[in-house]
Amino acid sequence: MSKKFYIKTFGCQMNFNDSERLRGLLRSIGYEPANTWEEADLIILNTCTVREKPDQKVLSHLGEYKKIKEKNPNALIAVAGCLAQRAGWELVQKAPVIDIMFSSFNMHQLPELINQAQAGYKAIAILDEPPPDEDKIWEFPTERDNPYCAYVTVMKGCDKRCTYCVVPATRGRERSRSLESILEEVKRLTDEGVREIHLLGQNVTAWGRDLPEPVPFSELLYRVSQIPGVERIRFTTGHPKDLTDDVIEAMAEIPQVCNALHLPFQAGSDRILALMDRGYTKEEYLEKIRKLKEKVKGIALSTDVIVGFPTETEEDFEETLDVLKKVRFEQVFSFKFSPRPGTPAANMEGQLPDEVKTERMRRLLELQKSILSEIAKSYEGTVQEVLVEEEKDGKLIGRTSTNKWATLSGSPELLGKIVRIKVTKASPFNLEGEILEVVK
Ligand code: SAH
Ligand code: SF4
Ligand code: F3S
Repeated sequence: MSKKFYIKTFGCQMNFNDSERLRGLLRSIGYEPANTWEEADLIILNTCTVREKPDQKVLSHLGEYKKIKEKNPNALIAVAGCLAQRAGWELVQKAPVIDIMFSSFNMHQLPELINQAQAGYKAIAILDEPPPDEDKIWEFPTERDNPYCAYVTVMKGCDKRCTYCVVPATRGRERSRSLESILEEVKRLTDEGVREIHLLGQNVTAWGRDLPEPVPFSELLYRVSQIPGVERIRFTTGHPKDLTDDVIEAMAEIPQVCNALHLPFQAGSDRILALMDRGYTKEEYLEKIRKLKEKVKGIALSTDVIVGFPTETEEDFEETLDVLKKVRFEQVFSFKFSPRPGTPAANMEGQLPDEVKTERMRRLLELQKSILSEIAKSYEGTVQEVLVEEEKDGKLIGRTSTNKWATLSGSPELLGKIVRIKVTKASPFNLEGEILEVVK
């Protein structure tokens, strides 16, 4: 009987795509997916350490998974991803139940690590630098749940040094995947029926700069759009500083690029932005947004915000609220500042008490809620295109180009099709509508 694996993923879309790659890799060496962790011979926790909360979740899961060894003493527990990279042996000391540890640098080494662990050794392979053969991971097929929308990681790492952020330490410097390798994967995906390609990188708009022959990110958008079968393109995450005019032009010009962009601004106060080392001012950010709204008609924007950065005053915080009011984002991911070990902001003077962060967060969410319900109303009666992604409880579910979920009545034959709908009812997180016609 073949061995079974179970992967639990935390964190960002890149981590999800890494897990999809690990699934493909494990299949290639004869493993099958298990339905529950209790049935698995290999449990992998693909971890995130961007804030303190995900760290705690990993430890509590490890505590639970420990029980597996009572039933199946040969079962292996692996910790992958960003917490593994950051904490290494320190984490093994806290949780000796860990047999295997690796990070996004060396996912391709998993088969060797499994062998080592089966031979009774602790296989802890946390490297200081990504190894020269890390690109091997692109050779394995990815195993995805969604047959129509696929994440495609195009670069790893981040060369920015935002003072609060642990990601450059866990993912390393920027390494772009080659144009050929990306296009080849996109071709394979469209052959399999994928219609929406979601390009991923921690700082995706910087893609191509470090290639032996540099290529601008906008060129990647054009090249992906030329592959037959690519009906939609999204990309995450763009950094405001690297969102150059040619990318905005490409977004406006290429019909498949979705009418949505996630562009984190983090804070509205220039003083806080400088302390964060974000490399732009509030006005420069707003100028980018004006340009985007002017060139890409009807674009839906989303963002990330940090509340309660060290020394943030009431006035600073109000600048953040002001950006929300001016831009009117369709989605805001807001986080209380969480000091991360080894980052400059963790040791800054003027750390704020949790009550202040919680209170500011409450006000931010309240403001955003009212903006969102106004935006939702403006969808009512409009015509939208929806890519139907799944069927649930007899309803079809999909997303608009602006990244809003829509629930529709219709036949399951429409799965994977782009349909034009008239929105009959809109709430902040869901649209309901009637299907007018099948577009393609
Ligand atoms: N590369 C992306 C985001 C990476 S992390 C970018 O540059 O925008 C995702 C989000 O987590 C960040 O945008 C930020 O809002 C939040 N975040 C990162 N570090 C944090 C910290 N120490 N405390 C609170 N939120 C943090
Ligand atoms: Fe972190 Fe800043 Fe890089 Fe984003 S751009 S991953 S927030 S260092
Ligand atoms: Fe978390 Fe690592 Fe992503 S820290 S947000 S999983 S890059």
